[in-house]
Amino acid sequence: MSSVSDAPGGDPRPIGVFDSGVGGLTVARSLMDLLPDESIVYLGDTARGPYGPRPLDEVRSFSLEILDWLAAADAKLVVAACNTATAALEPRLQGRSSSPAPVVGVIIPAVEAAVQATRNGRVGVIGTIGTIASGAYDRAVAECAPDIKLMSQACPRFVALAEAGLTTDGQALAVAADYLAPMIAAEVDTLILGCTHYPLLTGVLSYVMGPRVTLVSSAEETARRVFANLVDAGRLAPHGVPVHRFLATGDPVSFASLATRFLGPRAPTVEAADLASGGDGAPA
Ligand code: DGL
Repeated sequence: MSSVSDAPGGDPRPIGVFDSGVGGLTVARSLMDLLPDESIVYLGDTARGPYGPRPLDEVRSFSLEILDWLAAADAKLVVAACNTATAALEPRLQGRSSSPAPVVGVIIPAVEAAVQATRNGRVGVIGTIGTIASGAYDRAVAECAPDIKLMSQACPRFVALAEAGLTTDGQALAVAADYLAPMIAAEVDTLILGCTHYPLLTGVLSYVMGPRVTLVSSAEETARRVFANLVDAGRLAPHGVPVHRFLATGDPVSFASLATRFLGPRAPTVEAADLASGGDGAPA
């Protein structure tokens, strides 16, 4: 492993990031925090999202199409910033598209962090119906730490609450209390937020689970993994002003207004994406 100061750097190509819509912006936000010199090209598949309720085969084919599109946009590394897409692409994220770039998913980084964090060996994961039904987290935990007991819960209403900005009110608290009751009863001490929308619900999730439960955000853990990957490969961007591009397959205006909630003050300009264009629109 090289150190940051040893790493040659000098790869100015963008990191490609994709999600079914705006949730992956929580990953983009963590990437911008950890890697402020890196350019990002973000594709939100809002025309076909949410992916959570869709059959996994369909999500896989959408994801492969987007991986190819990001390869054509010259991404040096691609982040599948969506748990449902990562679950659909697993177990082999690599070699599933024409992309020569490494692909980083959100599941393994979160599982590895949770395995380190747990004190009593009882870990919970919450996610979309597709992610939980896929069993991808169960397989990852079984491989990484077979002694850990994993409890899973699909929380389909959380995505709509996060997108509506209803992350602090009584409704959010009631829904969270309902979904998380089995986790509390099982005395999990670590909870993986296995959906890229859920970091917006950190306040309510933390309140309901209580202060002794560690929350693991797949967004933050994935950003750390990308950091390590770029340093180890000597592919950090040179110091300078990065270019961040945001594209949506659906309406760019509604993406942009939702994005302000997920990206905070870094509200982006959003362009319309045409997947048939073969990656047209790579950062200049
Ligand atoms: N971003 C998705 C995920 O992390 C949740 C939204 C969706 O259902 O597409 O699974």
